[in-house]
Amino acid sequence: MRKTVIAGNWKMHMTCASAVEYMTKFLPLAKEFPSDRDVVIAPPFTAISTLSSLLKETDVFISSQNVHWEDQGAFTAEISPQMLLEHEVRYAIVGHSEPRKYFSESDEQINLRARSAQSNGLIPIVCVGESIEQRERGEAERVIRRQVEQGLEQLDANNLVIAYEPIWAIGTGRTCESKEANRICGLIREWVGTSDLVIQYGGSVKPSNIDEIMSMSDIDGVLVGGASLDPISFGRIANFNIEN
Ligand code: PGA
Repeated sequence: MRKTVIAGNWKMHMTCASAVEYMTKFLPLAKEFPSDRDVVIAPPFTAISTLSSLLKETDVFISSQNVHWEDQGAFTAEISPQMLLEHEVRYAIVGHSEPRKYFSESDEQINLRARSAQSNGLIPIVCVGESIEQRERGEAERVIRRQVEQGLEQLDANNLVIAYEPIWAIGTGRTCESKEANRICGLIREWVGTSDLVIQYGGSVKPSNIDEIMSMSDIDGVLVGGASLDPISFGRIANFNIEN
């Protein structure tokens, strides 16, 4: 049985004070989440410690938004697995399209990040996805397959999450049609060859489309950006109900 993972990526939003304020609204909702799912929040690094205290007695997990492959060293602006583990961080997002685009992260670096996360006991959330130009040129499957194969090299596919995030659907309000997202997630599962692989969809997920997305057979969860910044929206997403 595959695990369901609902993750909110706050990106570069939320001070510690706003994270505290958020949790006054979110934690009462979190008490009602069914126990069949992991609910995860990826705050900016500065709010991890604050969240770690607030979430101690709850079932909500913390993810980092990145992780480096060394334990320590001269790597300005990076963060090591040990630094995250000290705050009971459970997941680590790697290969998000924003660092891929703005900081030219390569599949090789992303793989090193994911391997270091996994070998230190963090669960990597490895993001993959094509640009609109690649999709229009008919290259989506080839691009995603390369990202998956290189990104997952030497990783245990039973202990990670893949997030399929078509870049053109991120922050644009333009969700990938759920059947198409499901088809790509099915292909990823086939390429990796692990039936228990957990695969999320990400890109303009919101309260109005979550139930449909989660009703798809190959989608095991979602990675949510914009809609996770509002505790009520993210609470509704985490509380999805496919019986509706
Ligand atoms: P979005 O972002 O939900 O705002 O489209 C998704 C993501 O970047 O993971």
